[in-house]
Amino acid sequence: MKLTEILGIEHPIIVAPMFLISNVDMVVAACENGATAAFPALNYRTDQELREAIALIRAKTSKPFGVNLIVNKSNPKAAQQLETLLELKVNFIITSLGSPQEVIERCRPLGIKVFCDVTSIEYAQKVEKLGADAVIAVSSRAGGHCGPEAPETLITSLVKNISIPVIAAGGIATKAHVDEVLAWGACGVSVGTVFLASKEATISDDYRQALIDYGEKDIVLTTKMSGSHLTVINTPYVQSIGTKATFMEKLMKRNKWLKKYLKMFIFIKGMRAIENAASKATYKTVWCAGPSIEYIKSIRPLKEILKDLTT
Ligand SMILES: Cc1cc2nc3c(=O)[nH]c(=O)nc-3n(C[C@H](O)[C@H](O)[C@H](O)COP(=O)(O)O)c2cc1C
Repeated sequence: MKLTEILGIEHPIIVAPMFLISNVDMVVAACENGATAAFPALNYRTDQELREAIALIRAKTSKPFGVNLIVNKSNPKAAQQLETLLELKVNFIITSLGSPQEVIERCRPLGIKVFCDVTSIEYAQKVEKLGADAVIAVSSRAGGHCGPEAPETLITSLVKNISIPVIAAGGIATKAHVDEVLAWGACGVSVGTVFLASKEATISDDYRQALIDYGEKDIVLTTKMSGSHLTVINTPYVQSIGTKATFMEKLMKRNKWLKKYLKMFIFIKGMRAIENAASKATYKTVWCAGPSIEYIKSIRPLKEILKDLTT
């Protein structure tokens, strides 16, 4: 089944969820121009802000849109966020990290579609068994936390080995790319990096300029930010701090007990200070983008970038 049929939209394109970047304006622009979009629930600090964002989107478009839920233990807000999304009946949820079991079980009776990020056949088969409506095949070309497999290998093997629809993610920047993955059997695409350069995106001027100035050869993988491989622009700052997490950073990120213990002693300064003590790198100083940065030449309205994918 095509993504256009699953969601009742014109183009088989999801403007992908991007941490700290996706916003109401991007979702509305995607929806009002024949595609759809999802934003990470974590982009909103409180439940009230999440509810307000959804209400604002609904005031501006009647088209379907989705929300991305990080379902592992690193997101203490996941349970509340899920309750809110169920109550407000968003059209679809994209799950990343952790098990999507509860999300699928709770969404099914309400008709909310669940698309699960996957990077391997084994995991895709697992979420298919759990009842996912589709998988998002996150390949080695993806921006953010990329998978290990090349796009063609991942998509064709998923299409062969599972019977739910496969949405392609990673390295898609032109209509030719969209046509190519559809020919491999994908039902649609999820596209992030090129939309970083949309006028609607909430990013700093320096980040914007970097998107124009840097190319594919400047994208490197770092474990500094989240502990797992994340694609970032190799700016002089990134070069100066290196791309490998130090022993202290690894301890801080992986060892909950140590985090708690340190928190007890430095509680006055709070977690941010503890994290800064281990590494100064934050999403404000380190800019995430995938190899599709190569196709970014200017900052344009989202509607125009969408046209590159459809005409
Ligand atoms: C800046 C940035 C932030 C991202 N944040 C998230 C996120 O919060 N949750 C998520 O599931 N995926 C996230 N992703 C991955 C995208 O949703 C999508 O899978 C990816 O961008 C597709 O590859 P592309 O960048 O080559 O188009 C992010 C990607 C980028 C570039």
